Amino acid sequence: MAKKTIRPAKKLSGTITLPGDKSISHRAIMLGAIADGTTVARGVLDCDDCNYTIHAFREMGVRIAKEGGSTVMHGAGLNGLKRPAGSIYVGESGTTMRLLAGILAGQKFESVLEGDLSLSKRPMQRIIEPLGLMGAKIRSASGGYPPLRIKAGKLKPIDYKMKVASAQVKSAILFAGLYTTGITKVREKVKSRDHTERMMRYFGADIKYDGLTVALRGGRRLFGQALEVPGDISSAAFFMVAATLIKGSKIRINRVSINPTRAGILDVLQRMGSNVKIINKVEAFEPFADIEVSSAVTKGTVIKEEEIPRLIDELPVIFVLAALSSGRTIVRGASELRVKETDRIRSMQDNLSSMGAKISVCKGSLVIEGRRYLDGAPLKSFGDHRTCMAMTVAALAAKGASAIDDVACVSKSFPEFFDVMEGLK
Ligand code: S3P
Repeated sequence: MAKKTIRPAKKLSGTITLPGDKSISHRAIMLGAIADGTTVARGVLDCDDCNYTIHAFREMGVRIAKEGGSTVMHGAGLNGLKRPAGSIYVGESGTTMRLLAGILAGQKFESVLEGDLSLSKRPMQRIIEPLGLMGAKIRSASGGYPPLRIKAGKLKPIDYKMKVASAQVKSAILFAGLYTTGITKVREKVKSRDHTERMMRYFGADIKYDGLTVALRGGRRLFGQALEVPGDISSAAFFMVAATLIKGSKIRINRVSINPTRAGILDVLQRMGSNVKIINKVEAFEPFADIEVSSAVTKGTVIKEEEIPRLIDELPVIFVLAALSSGRTIVRGASELRVKETDRIRSMQDNLSSMGAKISVCKGSLVIEGRRYLDGAPLKSFGDHRTCMAMTVAALAAKGASAIDDVACVSKSFPEFFDVMEGLK
């Protein structure tokens, strides 16, 4: 247990470049591993979750090397993965487990995916069902929880209507779709992040994804590529909110992913009255830009259910901003937060309430009454990286010192978080 005391910050200033986007990094490793030829990915995030993805493919015989700032995948080809010696352990990485299940469903060998205690409580029925419709036989612990035993078979394409807005579910189906010889369709009600679609196209897959339907023709080889992973907007979110809240701050964050299916926080910050400028946009296969933020007086807003998939991981820190903005913020339809690394509605409500914030929750919706200040308090990370980083921002903007019980969890997505924050003080 690594406890940390956090004192209010006077102001934040400086320029930072953040580690690579976690979602894009996972996909670069996975597609690099099953493509033909070599993939050289610059800026792949070096964190626990992505390292579990690398470890999983190494277990299946793929040579992956870290060379300077690049991660090099010597692709095994679509059908070149080897049966792992034992079960594949993916720690707490939900993205690794769900996306990899799609790939494993298409192999000729049986495999087992296992996670830690926290991942073992996260729902997998959402991927077991569609992969089952494609022909995979997946056994889970009762109720649809890990570990997953995946008995591969011949897969067939499906035309699938999504029940939850989840890029992980969509991606699991698309990865399995690569192992069929027809057209796999996934229909979404609300668009979730499209990194898999973009990266598959970049690697040569036959994929169309205009609007809410994705159509992938499987059975076609993928080819290794050179690519650059932009900075993670979910990590940038903590700094954008911190600079907005802490008076006299002015920061610049270089090369942040601004993929429109991920960048909902930029719209919310603008509506709440933040000073955020997007400059130097680059239209690569994943667009990115530099972001400048200076402090501002902010006001509450309404976040509708349709907006949630574009900012799901940023909600904890948006709650912090809402707690310190004038008026009321309403967030509708955020119940997916309950099935992340921890129940993030509960973790954030508990912590912010102990700092004096007023938050009421009805099912998956929240009402946050803003106030002028938060008090320093003892805080809990609940072992969840995003709760921990969001509460660090709250503590930096509070009156009086706070202490977070266990901050080691930030290594899941952003091991350098505290050092980068320190550098801006
Ligand atoms: C992710 C999708 C989101 C997100 C997670 C990463 C991805 O989960 O919360 O951190 O890389 O596809 P869901 O797709 O389950 O909403």
